[in-house]
Amino acid sequence: TEYETILVERRGRVGWITLNRPQALNALNSQLAQEVTAAAVAFDADHGIGAIVVTGSEKAFAAGADIKEMESMSAADMRATDHFGAWDDFAAVRTPVIAAVSGFALGGGCELAMMCDIILAADTAKFGQPEINLGVIPGMGGTQRLIRAVGYYKAAELILSGRMMGAEEAERAGLVSRVVPASDLLTEATTLADTIASKGLPSLYAAKAALDAAMETPLADGLAHEKQAFAALFDTADQKEGMSAFREKRSPDFTNR
Ligand code: HXC
Repeated sequence: TEYETILVERRGRVGWITLNRPQALNALNSQLAQEVTAAAVAFDADHGIGAIVVTGSEKAFAAGADIKEMESMSAADMRATDHFGAWDDFAAVRTPVIAAVSGFALGGGCELAMMCDIILAADTAKFGQPEINLGVIPGMGGTQRLIRAVGYYKAAELILSGRMMGAEEAERAGLVSRVVPASDLLTEATTLADTIASKGLPSLYAAKAALDAAMETPLADGLAHEKQAFAALFDTADQKEGMSAFREKRSPDFTNR
């Protein structure tokens, strides 16, 4: 497939998606939303892929939804086109997704990172929800996912003031799993993605689905989900292989079944 706003590459069992609108700091316009989603959905359908990495440039992961594209829209336009709807399919992929963030992750850029399962940050990363400065509010999940990541009070401060936070603060707050020197970001993302992609797909999918359930359900429902999902994995070849490999003191050879 030919993409114009992203670069897509398969490296081993990892699918790489690099946002590539440098002239606009990777602002997320509708074409980019469709392309990122199409690429992620294609990787998701490919059983040769066990992890996806989304990254941007050194200067910007993404500086937000494309303000110039939205500026003249009416409320009716927004609703009729479901302007950010393509992203729902991105958030729904079963494959684990890592956001490797360097530079600005603002507005929709921060929200895109939060649709991923893991956020790795360069020490240059800056996160924020500056929509309030534009007379709007986050529209791709920011008010909901940021609270779940950092708690109500920190999310409220960021969303109401529009202030940016650096990588260290974002790590302390629980948004970012790890901060690495900017020059190491892609190497660290590669190592992490390769590690994840070496596991069996049934257990990766089950783990991600259970993590998602934790975001969306009361504790008792989440625990019930986990119990069912855990039991179901005992019908997979990978469970037998993983456990016999342990007993035989060797590395497992997962077949993703
Ligand atoms: C469209 C953008 C853009 C954006 C940057 N650009 N962000 N274009 N949409 N979100 C463009 C600029 O217009 C400029 O192009 C080029 O990228 C480089 O940006 P500069 O501003 O010249 O760079 P710099 O001075 O380094 O400042 C970087 C920055 C600033 C601090 C990140 O660009 C900025 O504040 N951007 C907007 C951040 C923002 O408000 N994001 C939230 C968007 S709303 P030209 O051709 O003009 O030179 C959002 C809503 C989510 O995400 C969904 C609900 C509505």
